[in-house]
Amino acid sequence: MSKLLTLDDVALEGKTVLVRVDFNSPVDPETKKILDYTRIKRHGETTIKELAEKGAKVVVLAHQGRKGDPDFIPLKQHAEILGKVLGKPVKYVDDVFGEKAKNAIKSLKNGEILVLENVRTFDGETKKGTPEEHAETEFVKNLAPLADLFVNDAFAAAHRAHVSIVGFTAVLPSAAGRIMERELKSLSRVLENPEKPCVFVLGGAKADDSLEISRYVLSNNIADYVLTGGVVGHVFLAAKGVNLGKPNMDFLEKKELMGLVPGIKELMQKYPENIKTPVDVAVEVDGKRKEVSVEEMPVDYPIFDIGAKTVEAYAKIIRNAKSIVVSGPMGVYENSEFVHGTKGVFGEIANSKAFSLAGGGHTIAALQELGLSSKISYVSTAGGALIEFLMGKKLPGVAALKKAADRKA
Ligand code: 3PG
Repeated sequence: MSKLLTLDDVALEGKTVLVRVDFNSPVDPETKKILDYTRIKRHGETTIKELAEKGAKVVVLAHQGRKGDPDFIPLKQHAEILGKVLGKPVKYVDDVFGEKAKNAIKSLKNGEILVLENVRTFDGETKKGTPEEHAETEFVKNLAPLADLFVNDAFAAAHRAHVSIVGFTAVLPSAAGRIMERELKSLSRVLENPEKPCVFVLGGAKADDSLEISRYVLSNNIADYVLTGGVVGHVFLAAKGVNLGKPNMDFLEKKELMGLVPGIKELMQKYPENIKTPVDVAVEVDGKRKEVSVEEMPVDYPIFDIGAKTVEAYAKIIRNAKSIVVSGPMGVYENSEFVHGTKGVFGEIANSKAFSLAGGGHTIAALQELGLSSKISYVSTAGGALIEFLMGKKLPGVAALKKAADRKA
């Protein structure tokens, strides 16, 4: 089987290394200031630090936002934050592969770090292509001759077959960075031969991917249970034929989630014991929480959380689990009336001795707010890439690294 090369397999002293990271961060649309720099810190404290300490000339490639979006900003701020994280100067040049960038790369000394401009300022960057096709772009043709090695540390962007993700792997020796390595290792632990029982907890408001993930993990005997909450729970209840009441059914229609119902129904017929849906929910009546059992449905009030009986039923399953994946909160945890479901279920996961993996922006925020992050075995910073991985899709960035490793062997 193809294996990736890591930083342990390559010489770094005096080498010019192009390292692709995922610095994509939330940005205030008005002030254009970065609101959270978790990703910059993660790459900085691991891969970038190691490359610099081992004497490489480090050239950082990254994207931020997409052209036309309010979070599409230059990487100057990211370079400044990286400097603070590392406690040493980090250079920045507002160019990706022109003369300015090339001269800055050529003048790097061992251990120095240079951040290039947002790679998405190059229009061709986001075009989908194979490594060989992308190797023919001006981007790769200009930078590859100046480099000895390509390192991909951007697991969170590895689902994009973009130039800076796959193009360099066709022409340069290529290795995975430490974050890429860590993400793949943790994900393999739950997706390839997970210790059983294995439980997937799916919640949150973005329910679109819940059917495909459930289908993949159940039909490949990865998950023993799928526990549903949040809007995901609502769609699964609707697929069971439960009428959730007008405000809730209208919401599912508006979000175009009812299209998932036939597929979920079929899956539930196939795995009746393995998919769990809420037995009670919490609705909002005059700004207050009121718990309603599913048998009492329909309700005329919006559902904002799972109920206490559901938390208890899910907790029993979680207590027995040896592997747990959690993606999405159980309700509107930001509101103290509706935090109980998320607190109960996430708290149980945090107290469990099982290997636990959490991912997704809202899941991370909820864990942080509840003070539970440090009790989760691995918290992934990836969004879309994690979802695609959980659906069993091959990530182009990872496939390209494997191919490059095979070429070397
Ligand atoms: C992410 O934040 O999920 C990655 O950086 C990918 O960003 P994209 O969805 O704009 O390609």
